[in-house]
Amino acid sequence: MRKNIVAGNWKMNNNLQEGLDLAKELQKVLNGKKVNCDVVICTPFIHLSTIAQVITTIGLGAQNCADKVSGAYTGEVSAAMIASTGAKYVILGHSERRSYYGENNAGLKEKVILALSNHLTPIFCVGEVLAERNAGKQNEVVETQIRESLFHFSAEDFKKIVLAYEPVWAIGTGVTATSDQAQEMHAFIRKLIVDQYGATVANEISILYGGSCNASNAKELFTNPDVDGGLIGGASLSVDKFLPIVEAF
Ligand code: PGA
Repeated sequence: MRKNIVAGNWKMNNNLQEGLDLAKELQKVLNGKKVNCDVVICTPFIHLSTIAQVITTIGLGAQNCADKVSGAYTGEVSAAMIASTGAKYVILGHSERRSYYGENNAGLKEKVILALSNHLTPIFCVGEVLAERNAGKQNEVVETQIRESLFHFSAEDFKKIVLAYEPVWAIGTGVTATSDQAQEMHAFIRKLIVDQYGATVANEISILYGGSCNASNAKELFTNPDVDGGLIGGASLSVDKFLPIVEAF
């Protein structure tokens, strides 16, 4: 069966020392604790190789990768470079990348291909903005994002991807999707996968919820049959806030 995953998305927070301290503290509290999910932290690039040395049970990921293999692309970081640090995951298609850095479905398709070819697990984000939800277009938007970036993969490759539904209006706003809204969208996404790849594949894909997920709403969200964990922004920046989300499973 599919895995439950709680992944922290640190975004552009914490200098190297602060990040290292946070990773060490989190690993320390998790040591000897039995948790019912995989715990992942997705850090800025510069933290990866250092943090990789101090974590044992926590998975490590980046928050983006280049859409090119290597070469004269000043300022970019390739999937191969990320993998060489010991990281195993990469967040791709986060709405902040889509809206502030112009990422689109076609470019994201290339990034997912490169992530998979470097044995990184993409945590692929999809989600609608508020105007789209208000217009009742959320399913259409999410379907297009998934179809255009991911549905060209074979079932074997598609199974290696983790999806994250992050309604843009819920990210960093304190407004969480209701448990019903989350379940409804997650079930819709799983049905798309059933139609494309069949029920066996669909049942193996973890679909995380993200957007103002915190200690007080995580349990209710994670109880839904199609919500397999969370992608956590703000609440992943302290152990006190992150641990109860991990323990919500
Ligand atoms: P948030 O961010 O938990 O701070 O809303 C989630 C995300 O952007 O992944």
